[in-house]
Amino acid sequence: MRKNIIAGNWKMNTTLSEGLALAKGLDEALKGKTLKCDVVIGTPFTHLASVAAAIDTKRIGVAAQNCADKDKGAYTGEVSAAMVASTGAEYVILGHSERRQYYHETSVTLEAKVNLALANGLTPIFCIGEVLAEREAGKHFEVVDEQVRTALFDLSPEDFSKIVIAYEPVWAIGTGKTATADQAQEIHAHIRKTLAAKYGDVIANDTTILYGGSMNAENAKDLVAKPDVDGGLIGGASLSVEKFLPIIEAF
Ligand code: 13P
Repeated sequence: MRKNIIAGNWKMNTTLSEGLALAKGLDEALKGKTLKCDVVIGTPFTHLASVAAAIDTKRIGVAAQNCADKDKGAYTGEVSAAMVASTGAEYVILGHSERRQYYHETSVTLEAKVNLALANGLTPIFCIGEVLAEREAGKHFEVVDEQVRTALFDLSPEDFSKIVIAYEPVWAIGTGKTATADQAQEIHAHIRKTLAAKYGDVIANDTTILYGGSMNAENAKDLVAKPDVDGGLIGGASLSVEKFLPIIEAF
């Protein structure tokens, strides 16, 4: 079944003590509330184990923001999917535009990461989205199709059904310029159609597709009210309980 999810992506923010305080604060704020969505926080690698131990992971799922494209071995500085899973994290954000742009991640490495994440029982939150020039050239549909096709379409239907997609137009990330709810709905519906053409209507309908890019307390309600927007992947506004909570409560 399709799930509603509000996920925070802390990116490279917070020291361990700050991150722990943020996670515990959110856990406390959600205690006793009946929510219409699952809540996930994507912390730096260094925080995963401590955060997972400090909160109720039934209430808040923990995500890594990346994992290695190799299983294990002599890859200095890398963190494997098995290591991530061993911390108590259940999710891993993969293919974020910042990783594609600054760390040159390609669909080949991303496909390997997705496979390793799945093999280790993690749920990939797989990010796709076009840059401004592509949107202005009317190529955004093609771009997202290509991103899902090249990294995900060799998955078996069973494996594909474990994936969460996050549509994040690069021009909306950290810019304060969010896609309108209609723009988000239009492309989410398109993505779902692309998934249906490959995996059939049932799997496509059951796939959670999140929106990300300057989502906040003000615009969240309109975005999640759209039938094909199943939640959000939130950067800046996930760094304080005060800003993140109203987004969670937008459902
Ligand atoms: P902002 O919410 O800060 O725009 O970031 C979105 C994002 O990149 C989440 O992964």
